[in-house]
Amino acid sequence: MVRSLSRSLWFWPWLWFCIWIFYTTPTVSWPWTKFVPLPLIQQNTQWNHDAINRVDVFYGANCTGNVFPGATRPFGMVKLGVDVINHQWGNSYSGYAPGGVITGLSMMHESGTGGAPQYGVVAQLPFTSEFNPEIEMNLTRSQSDTGKVGYYAVNTTEGVDIELAAGERFGILKYNFEKGVDAKVLVNVSHHLTAQERPWWTQRFVKGIIEGTESGYGGYVTLKGGWGNQDPWTLYFCGNFSVPAIQVTRYKGNAVQPGYYSVGSSRRGDSFGLVFDFGGEVSEVVSHVGISFISREQACSNINHEQDFNSLVLETQRIWNEEVFDKFEVVSSDPRVVDQFYTNLYGAHLIPSNRTGENPNPGWKPDQVYYDDFFTIWDTFRCLNPLHNIVSRKRGSEIVQALTNIYLNEGWTPDGRSANQNGRTQGGSNSDIVMADAFVKHIPDVDWEQAYAAMKQNAEVQPPYWYDSFAPDASTKQGRGALPDWLQYGYITRNYTRSVSRTMEYAYDDFALSQVAKGLGLSDDHAKYLRRSSQWQNIWNKDAQADGYDYKGFIQPRDADGSFNYEDYDPMSCGGCYWGNDEYEGKPVEYGFAVPHDIAKLIQLVGSSETFAKRIDDLYPLHGKKIADVGNEPSFLTPFLYNFVNEQWKSVELVRYIMQHDFHFGVKSLPGNSDGGAMQAWVIFSLIGIYPIAGTTTYLIASPFVNHLKLHLENGAVFEVSASGLSSDNIYVQSLKINGEKWNKNWVDHDTLFGPNGGSMEFVLGSSQVVWETGPPPPSFGHLD
Ligand SMILES: *[C@@H]1O[C@H](CO)[C@@H](O)[C@H](O)[C@H]1NC(C)=O
Ligand SMILES: *[C@@H]1O[C@H](CO)[C@@H](O)[C@H](O)[C@H]1NC(C)=O
Ligand SMILES: *[C@@H]1O[C@H](CO)[C@@H](O)[C@H](O)[C@H]1NC(C)=O
Ligand SMILES: *[C@@H]1O[C@H](CO)[C@@H](O)[C@H](O)[C@H]1NC(C)=O
Ligand SMILES: *[C@@H]1O[C@H](CO)[C@@H](O)[C@H](O)[C@H]1NC(C)=O
Ligand SMILES: *[C@@H]1O[C@H](CO)[C@@H](O)[C@H](O)[C@H]1NC(C)=O
Ligand SMILES: *[C@@H]1O[C@H](CO)[C@@H](O)[C@H](O)[C@H]1NC(C)=O
Repeated sequence: MVRSLSRSLWFWPWLWFCIWIFYTTPTVSWPWTKFVPLPLIQQNTQWNHDAINRVDVFYGANCTGNVFPGATRPFGMVKLGVDVINHQWGNSYSGYAPGGVITGLSMMHESGTGGAPQYGVVAQLPFTSEFNPEIEMNLTRSQSDTGKVGYYAVNTTEGVDIELAAGERFGILKYNFEKGVDAKVLVNVSHHLTAQERPWWTQRFVKGIIEGTESGYGGYVTLKGGWGNQDPWTLYFCGNFSVPAIQVTRYKGNAVQPGYYSVGSSRRGDSFGLVFDFGGEVSEVVSHVGISFISREQACSNINHEQDFNSLVLETQRIWNEEVFDKFEVVSSDPRVVDQFYTNLYGAHLIPSNRTGENPNPGWKPDQVYYDDFFTIWDTFRCLNPLHNIVSRKRGSEIVQALTNIYLNEGWTPDGRSANQNGRTQGGSNSDIVMADAFVKHIPDVDWEQAYAAMKQNAEVQPPYWYDSFAPDASTKQGRGALPDWLQYGYITRNYTRSVSRTMEYAYDDFALSQVAKGLGLSDDHAKYLRRSSQWQNIWNKDAQADGYDYKGFIQPRDADGSFNYEDYDPMSCGGCYWGNDEYEGKPVEYGFAVPHDIAKLIQLVGSSETFAKRIDDLYPLHGKKIADVGNEPSFLTPFLYNFVNEQWKSVELVRYIMQHDFHFGVKSLPGNSDGGAMQAWVIFSLIGIYPIAGTTTYLIASPFVNHLKLHLENGAVFEVSASGLSSDNIYVQSLKINGEKWNKNWVDHDTLFGPNGGSMEFVLGSSQVVWETGPPPPSFGHLD
């Protein structure tokens, strides 16, 4: 099998191109020698080690994907990039847009979120014209921005070119001024991202201070608002310039005067700051800027002045290689698949942000592990967190520790969170599933008693009321709104918004509790939560029908008296699909599949395996209509569910179809928001050919897009996938070996692949739609064992 793969590779010209790149790219010291040649690979095949140059940082960066394209480290607090005003297309929530004008280079951004933009604070803007406080100062590009991992560049028509590099909690901004222009830098303390088309969720400037010298400045800025309706929060900053300014000017509103100190507040207009004038003789100004949520001193001490621009770029790239890229080795006969792999891998490591030592809220100790920017767990729990639990168990652990610490210090785990505040829960308390996923995969260094206490609180305690004009009925800040209904009726009645999707999610969340309880030896809790995890069946109406479909039975809103509510009900529609509707961002027909813990029961309810498969067929244009939204999370798992009726070849075909039709290259590329990397994680699993069922140890098997892949696990073992015979027609599994043994199930569990010995999957692919899986279907957990 393997021999023929490598023989055929011999003739492919792209391979020689890669080998050429391999030998000619003069770069950072990658640890080539670390990789011992594998028995599965013949000497003619070459692994690709060129990830840094293959990542397209602009992938999904348009206003659909909202991916942050600027300079950052994996999960870095600093995300240094451009903030653009783009009246034509609107802004990406990451600050970036391909057109428009640049109004600031700021230190913090989110990546890939929906909702509304957050941060865009602590900005500089180099310029060469007269300073005019009455307009928003801005730069026009002379060409498209360029960027690669850890580096971003903007060339302008205004005689200044910009390069950006990011450290963990500081960044370096490098300006190259044309000969003879007047070199100036604006530090606009009030600068921040706004939600022009959603003013109710826009951030607002509250107040700030800046104090400067000729060669630097420090201060703070306070903002409020955003998607989580944040209360005022403060960020401190510290900036240094490589050359002293010859003049410093302060401005507030429209008033400009010499001076080094400026105070601003929203009451007195929201534009204030300092202008540093370096004169006409200076060609290069380099600025180190540090930030901190704790103090101005910490913002200064977060800067590493030893590091110059180039060494910072290389250090950041080294960290990306070490933590992310070097763990993978990928071979594909299609070079675009390798690009796609590394680009998506990059996008799956941007948020949440590691903010250990940077939580200013009461009770936090500097060494307590802390992450922010969960935006949102509703998006990420399904496959992004499970990806982290494979690629970096240390991250996976720190994320669960952070969630636990947020519960311990602040009272509740978040679902959405930024600017150090919980805010906006779309469905359930899905941090429960993140925790269970880590638990069943033996993620180390978590205090599981405490983590489980956080989960229990979500499951048992109604969160305090928090007014939300979009859903005034029950809290959307944290925990599970409308919990009393769940406890009393066993479903959420239509007295509450999102009653159908909340019912489905609370069931899955309770399943997560049952798994942790089981592992902790809490057998009563195990039984109790497993029973509650079946409560989604309470909203299954066996008589519900959809126009044009000959099968019956769907989930449906239900009143407290037990009757099903037919008012406005159509299983193929979620109305506005928003905060005030019965279902949030997913139709009843889509959300009906959202019981990955008990698909066996679902198959029983729909009547037969054939109907179950037909129902999936009907959701996608491949066999039916475009009903499921592949660009949104509720349907992430659905294409793989044919495995439960042992028709794995149909999962393979549908995943191929979606990858081909909905995921592209370049700025547009993603079919929806990246959602903090959730979308990219879906692509990564699809390319590898497995997909996790979050909160369980199960992976459903599809078929790889890569010819060969190795993942170096943190425990020193290797996980390896090979696909013999792969071509555009040969996508179907003909046979499979796992760890050298013939495998007859279309699923596999975590420890078999990622345990102490690693694991291997050797696929033989072909063009026939073979039912090769003679073993039992993937497990369902809806009963006590
Ligand atoms: C960015 O998105 C807008 C709106 O969807 C689209 O019209 C525009 O062509 C996109 N730009 C690029 C460079 O793809
Ligand atoms: C950008 O600056 C120009 C002056 O250079 C000004 O006319 C224009 O209004 C500014 N654009 C924005 C979006 O603020
Ligand atoms: C400073 O930023 C604020 C808020 O983003 C903006 O309204 C103002 O125009 C900016 N001032 C200048 C001089 O660019
Ligand atoms: C863009 O700016 C950089 C840095 O000043 C410079 O090296 C590069 O040549 C510029 N590119 C173009 C096309 O002018
Ligand atoms: C430059 O940075 C150092 C420490 O990082 C700080 O103490 C100093 O005040 C800064 N310089 C100016 C002029 O602000
Ligand atoms: C997160 O940040 C803290 C503080 O800087 C650091 O000690 C820790 O190693 C970081 N975590 C990872 C996984 O890099
Ligand atoms: C709303 O709740 C009340 C009890 O609090 C119940 O009597 C009523 O039937 C509920 N309405 C619906 C639509 O379920």
